[in-house]
Amino acid sequence: MTTKTAHRFAFGDNWEKFSNIVSNREIDEAVENLSRIVQGISLDDKSFLDIGCGSGLHSLAAIRLGAKKVSAFDIDPVSVQTTQKLLSSYAHDAPVTIEEKSIFDAIPANEQDKYDIVYSWGVLHHTGDMWGAIKKAAEFVAADGEIVIAIYKKSPLCGFWRVEKSIYSRLPSLLQFPITLLFSMLYLVGISLKGKNPIKYVKTYRSFRGMNFWHDMIDWLGGYPYESATSDEMKNFFCGLGFKVVSEYNVTPVKAMGLFGCGCAEYVFSRNEEENEN
Ligand SMILES: C[S@@+](CC[C@H](N)C(=O)[O-])C[C@H]1O[C@@H](n2cnc3c(N)ncnc32)[C@H](O)[C@@H]1O
Repeated sequence: MTTKTAHRFAFGDNWEKFSNIVSNREIDEAVENLSRIVQGISLDDKSFLDIGCGSGLHSLAAIRLGAKKVSAFDIDPVSVQTTQKLLSSYAHDAPVTIEEKSIFDAIPANEQDKYDIVYSWGVLHHTGDMWGAIKKAAEFVAADGEIVIAIYKKSPLCGFWRVEKSIYSRLPSLLQFPITLLFSMLYLVGISLKGKNPIKYVKTYRSFRGMNFWHDMIDWLGGYPYESATSDEMKNFFCGLGFKVVSEYNVTPVKAMGLFGCGCAEYVFSRNEEENEN
């Protein structure tokens, strides 16, 4: 089984285009953001698994932060090629394994197949079975390891966005372009109404994980399948799997009903040693 839905967005094409604009500035931002999320947890000499690696930028950030073994996989062959290309350009002698694989086909064969840090940013809500995918991802966390995960926040307009993404992801790119342009313009009007400078916002967008405004708009509009979760749902689910909360970020409720998107909440969970010993 590779996916839980017949149809899904071709994320890889967007990542391939994004990778052409990646430079040391985007990489530095990705490194800074990864250190922020894993605050206090050193990656030095750790093993790191990047589930749904997309462009490969965050695997590269993990290498820069000293990870001793990095494995990355993605269901999309273009994402896999893009990750290979990015890592061979910026970290050609790093100990990396990159595979085309779905989370639903991934099983740790033994303890050596588990990782100190399992990282999956903005991925598992795009699989068609978010909770099943989260459970599979958690199986890869080593006994004293952590999972870093970002999942869309719930909003009143989640149902609307699910339909929009289902339609957008089926359209030819010629039609996707004007929709992305219109949404981007509306989004920037919203930014201006908040008293922020929209030009500066776009220019400095890379400070958000090294990302790019235009490619993130496409990712948001097309990202199908689509699910979301509340912070309580996430914490309850992970507690049920024998994990405890280390930290959570951006869990405040979605603004403007999610009209301009929901944003991802970020969580770090670690295996709850005490509970697992009992
Ligand atoms: C929104 S992108 C996030 C990429 C990257 N993690 C990042 O933070 O930039 C979601 C990625 O998940 C991948 N993906 C979707 N379903 C997947 C699955 N079942 N198994 C593995 N990867 C999957 C997509 O191909 C895409 O590259």
